[in-house]
Amino acid sequence: MEFQGKCFWITGAASGMGKSLAVLLAAFKTRLILTDRDEPGLQETAALVSAAGSESIVRKLDMSDMVQIRAVAHEILDTEKKVDGLFQFAGISQRSLVAETPEENERLIMEINYFGTIALAKAVLPAMIQNGGGLLSVTSSLVGKFGFPFRSSYSASKHALHGYFESLRAENVKNNIRVSILIPGRIQTNISKFALDKEGKEYGKMDPGQANGITAEKAARQILSGLKKEKKEIHVGGKELLMLQIRRFFPGLLYYLAGRIKPV
Ligand SMILES: NC(=O)c1ccc[n+]([C@@H]2O[C@H](COP(=O)([O-])OP(=O)(O)OC[C@H]3O[C@@H](n4cnc5c(N)ncnc54)[C@H](OP(=O)(O)O)[C@@H]3O)[C@@H](O)[C@H]2O)c1
Repeated sequence: MEFQGKCFWITGAASGMGKSLAVLLAAFKTRLILTDRDEPGLQETAALVSAAGSESIVRKLDMSDMVQIRAVAHEILDTEKKVDGLFQFAGISQRSLVAETPEENERLIMEINYFGTIALAKAVLPAMIQNGGGLLSVTSSLVGKFGFPFRSSYSASKHALHGYFESLRAENVKNNIRVSILIPGRIQTNISKFALDKEGKEYGKMDPGQANGITAEKAARQILSGLKKEKKEIHVGGKELLMLQIRRFFPGLLYYLAGRIKPV
């Protein structure tokens, strides 16, 4: 994928990895569509994009609202000639045990992380195919590869993305639709602060895992390099990514370790 002069849509663009990737892409004289539920955050990202010499369109978009997703996609596709890539970062995490998590939290996490993500991809796909193809990227997680304490529904929502987007990729090779699934480890962002606790409230703290992780800027550089190569899976992070190798080659050890992790 060449970035110069292209049009990309980034969800979750108001903070963290989505914001940092927008800033990096802005260096390529791109046209960026920036969406998120956090409007002031979007304006900040748009200002950085503009300072880096690129144009952006900003739209408030709640990824738990399927009607809004389809309406915004319709409006954007009406005005944009071509969207070359849709890079989805919007997501919400969880900090609660299986036994104490109410069904409303489980459904909300699935709505945002899974149903919202597939709804937007589906809304954009026909135009992308008509325009000769494009790159879809979605953000899974290390826990999209294996389960982890305190993350049951979050982990399930990320596992679901793999099944869906691997199928979408297989169906659309002939249409020149490429799919990159991002697998971040521990990145210093607000993801744990806004995670849902057992009462459906914000968890409000940065986990030690995130605090010791790589920065969002470094993560965005790894993501950009993976997107350039159109890698099917892009691993993002530091030494915690070793867990992927442990899961693959020593699954027994992974289950042993996961069972002993202090749930935060
Ligand atoms: N950080 C990590 O260690 C890590 C690890 C693995 C995977 N991930 C994944 O990486 C992606 C990006 O997260 P991040 O780490 O960059 O954290 P982040 O800074 O919290 O970014 C997530 C963004 O998604 C937005 N969002 C949440 N719910 C939304 C909704 N209903 N509609 C629209 N936007 C919504 C958030 O808005 P608000 O600011 O309003 O909440 C925020 O701007 C997420 O999908 C996350 O699951 C992160």
